[in-house]
Amino acid sequence: MQHSAGDSGASGRGSFELTGRTVHVRSMRTKAPEAVVAELAATLTQRERNHAAKYCFDHLRVRYILATGGLRILLGRYLNIRPERVEFRYGVKGKPSLAGSDHQFNMSHSGELALFAFTPECELGVDVERMRTVDDLFGIAAGAFCPEETAELRSLPPRLLHQGFFSLWTRKEAYIKAIGQGLYAPLDRFRVSLLPGEPARFVHIDGDAAEARSWMLHDLTIHPEYRAAVAYRDAARPLEIWETIEPEELLENGPRAAERPPVTAASDGV
Ligand SMILES: CC(C)(COP(=O)(O)OP(=O)(O)OC[C@H]1O[C@@H](n2cnc3c(N)ncnc32)[C@H](O)[C@@H]1OP(=O)(O)O)[C@@H](O)C(=O)NCCC(=O)NCCS
Repeated sequence: MQHSAGDSGASGRGSFELTGRTVHVRSMRTKAPEAVVAELAATLTQRERNHAAKYCFDHLRVRYILATGGLRILLGRYLNIRPERVEFRYGVKGKPSLAGSDHQFNMSHSGELALFAFTPECELGVDVERMRTVDDLFGIAAGAFCPEETAELRSLPPRLLHQGFFSLWTRKEAYIKAIGQGLYAPLDRFRVSLLPGEPARFVHIDGDAAEARSWMLHDLTIHPEYRAAVAYRDAARPLEIWETIEPEELLENGPRAAERPPVTAASDGV
């Protein structure tokens, strides 16, 4: 898939290319010195700045600015345009996509991490969650997930319970983000695998096993304290995952880690 340069003012850094049907997964820490936050904030639109100003907690405002600015810089490098020229449009339930490009992307943030995925021409969703103590884990599972998923969760040994809960959560949220519905989509209408040793996959979607087979689901190993997943509607695509970077590594004069090759390349599972 090609995009013309079209904008001689693009970042001084090299551009990124999505070749064939590849899925690129990148992650970034959402903590940075104030000067770096200010540089990423400068890429935001007025609408995004107004949104940032509404956060009551500083750490959430900073996370939003870094994640949105980071997304703009990354997309700018895929499209070969300046980050502030990246134009988003929004689906009915708020899913952002690119105006005038067949690049698809999705973003998620939790704790101190932002996760980004990019691919050509296919619905795609990602979710990352920092694992934390959940008091009424089975109650939440019973209220939100399929009975079979809750039963599988109950069957896990206690040491795998929290990990299992967040695996379920991220696998399911990656799907509802891929279809753009977010939490408007009932989480108990589709089922994902959970048991240890079973690859991440959709078991059924609205009771339809064939529809489930037209989707791919991968767990993403980003950080030991986090669970993450990506879902997309296609046969298995080559998946490339980069090491987590610091926000300053995206700046024109920052260190160059964002240029490194991916640390993982897989076409089926990670
Ligand atoms: C999409 C949704 C599931 C994300 O939940 P979350 O775990 O809090 O957030 P994540 O960090 O995983 O993802 C957030 C990012 O997903 C993207 N996103 C937003 N809406 C989306 C949607 N409907 N589908 C897919 N992606 C979406 C945005 O990039 C967003 O980043 P931003 O919040 O910094 O703008 C949730 O916000 C939702 O259900 N939204 C639809 C309902 C709604 O709009 N509610 C508003 C309150 S009334």
